[in-house]
Amino acid sequence: MNTPQRTLLITGASRGIGRATAMLALNNGWRVVGIARRFDQPLRQTPGLHAVEGDLSRLDQLDTLLKGVSKTFPEIEAVLSNAGQGRFAKLEQFGASEIRDQIDLNLTSHILLARHFLPLLKRRRQGSLIFMGSEAALRGGQKGALYCAAKFGLRGLAQSLREEAAGNGVRVGLINPGMVKTDFFEDLDFRPGDAPHQHLLPEDIARAVMLMLDARPGATIDEINLSPQSRVIDFSSRG
Ligand SMILES: NC(=O)c1ccc[n+]([C@@H]2O[C@H](COP(=O)([O-])OP(=O)(O)OC[C@H]3O[C@@H](n4cnc5c(N)ncnc54)[C@H](OP(=O)(O)O)[C@@H]3O)[C@@H](O)[C@H]2O)c1
Repeated sequence: MNTPQRTLLITGASRGIGRATAMLALNNGWRVVGIARRFDQPLRQTPGLHAVEGDLSRLDQLDTLLKGVSKTFPEIEAVLSNAGQGRFAKLEQFGASEIRDQIDLNLTSHILLARHFLPLLKRRRQGSLIFMGSEAALRGGQKGALYCAAKFGLRGLAQSLREEAAGNGVRVGLINPGMVKTDFFEDLDFRPGDAPHQHLLPEDIARAVMLMLDARPGATIDEINLSPQSRVIDFSSRG
């Protein structure tokens, strides 16, 4: 007898950590619904992956986007709230609208995603909601005020929802990676070191997601911190 396919929603599934998690989840028998602004052709043609194009920072349109996703895929039983972007500078170098845009994407869109999907998971009396935090959720640092504010916020959100949702059979977790070799650094003036022990790979984080999802029912992995063996920041791309 075939067991029904489990369905995982991943935001930011088009690149980096989200894409690697989508690939690993597909290999492990999950069906994946991905959200990002743009998916390339190979992803759009990947069997088992349903690509939904949408901008999560457009909070005015988010409700409509999420209602469409949950109506089309009512069987979603796990959510990886992962989409994000890093902008690093002293706080006074950001204008008010840039501050709002960053917090909209890196914090508020995750809160609204959780608000939409948690009641659906609770009704099923099972499911998982995993947030992509960061080492920046654990410790503040120079030029990190805005990014850390959002990621610290995500950690508080995850810890609180973990308490709220446990009685309904829903597990809430947080993953805090150190520097991962992805496009995240494309527009930044620093990146992790090139040697294999100086960065994480997106596949490392994907394995942590699977560990949380595959935990024995009744056991919750609250938080996973991962970092490269050596913390090396390469500033050679600075102009
Ligand atoms: N890389 C690191 O060192 C690192 C470390 C710790 C935590 N993280 C966190 O991990 C998460 C993923 O980062 P990554 O390293 O995989 O970065 P990435 O390779 O740049 O991927 C970011 C993903 O988020 C999506 N995204 C960005 N803005 C979006 C928007 N407005 N609406 C919808 N989707 C959007 C991107 O797709 P589109 O551009 O197509 O929309 C892409 O799929 C982020 O939350 C980041 O803060 C990263």
